[in-house]
Amino acid sequence: MTAIETLKSTSNTLRDVLTRLQKEDAALGHFNVSDHVLLKAVIAAGAESKLPVLIGASEGEREFFGARQLAALVNSERQESDFPIFLNADHTHSLAKALEAAKAGFDAVTIDFSALPFEENVARTKEAVQAIKAVNPAILAEGEIGDIGTGSEIKETAQGGKLSTPEEARQFVEATGIDNLAPAVGNMHGMLKSMVQGKAKKHLDLERIAQIKKAAGVFLTLHGGSGTDDEHFRKAIAAGINIIHINTELRVAWRESLDKSLARDTNEVVPYKILRPVVDSVKQVVSLRLRLFHGQPASREAVGTVA
Ligand code: G3H
Ligand code: ZN
Repeated sequence: MTAIETLKSTSNTLRDVLTRLQKEDAALGHFNVSDHVLLKAVIAAGAESKLPVLIGASEGEREFFGARQLAALVNSERQESDFPIFLNADHTHSLAKALEAAKAGFDAVTIDFSALPFEENVARTKEAVQAIKAVNPAILAEGEIGDIGTGSEIKETAQGGKLSTPEEARQFVEATGIDNLAPAVGNMHGMLKSMVQGKAKKHLDLERIAQIKKAAGVFLTLHGGSGTDDEHFRKAIAAGINIIHINTELRVAWRESLDKSLARDTNEVVPYKILRPVVDSVKQVVSLRLRLFHGQPASREAVGTVA
């Protein structure tokens, strides 16, 4: 039996993989993609390490890529791969977009009504959970509470508001029926300039993660992973984090390597010659993060070395 046949013959749903990784004290890496260069980089990193990857696309990323087109590409990659590949509809702010992703074949949806007051967040999330599970009972529904700022971009000042409490987490999970919860635990979307330069790191409230895990009793997702201290990642996984989202680090690597590649030869017009080094640079960042999330030694810190 080939490696691909073995993978296909064993039960390898997203839930199975998360359950297995939790036992192994590892987390599933979630990497956002806006284009085929980023997608190729994430797939290449997974193929090299044979570690599972969760590909994410927010509403904006899906609009640029095409939700059904991205799902078709991921499905085609999956058929030829000997490692698990999953697809998440990241930061989905409407029922219509959640349904669109479920119908397109996404494995998971991050339902994000966290900007609304708690009770409204509960009601809208619950409605979306029921709707997407009616399309695909195996789909994983994620809900968000708290404020960790928006946008995987380089920022001047830190964002984010009140941290989530264990009691809120318990109530939210019970009332909505979500499969995994994304709380605010000191994380923040995007990176400060000092983080891009490797001079500062994000730090997490590890005790709070452990308390929320106990109270919520579901898989936990850490958003805003870019620029987080390596040791905090390790401890956050030990405290109960199951999925880690990384986006800005990939975007920084994409931008810096694209600038460099374009500057190398101003007469170069062959897209795949310009873009190949960009795929390689992004892949390096993904590989480092993947190794870290699976407790494998990383040769260097990912942040600040992406240029
Ligand atoms: O959903 C996407 C992530 O939470 C990414 O956050 O850009 O800080 O890595 P990040
Ligand atoms: Zn996020």
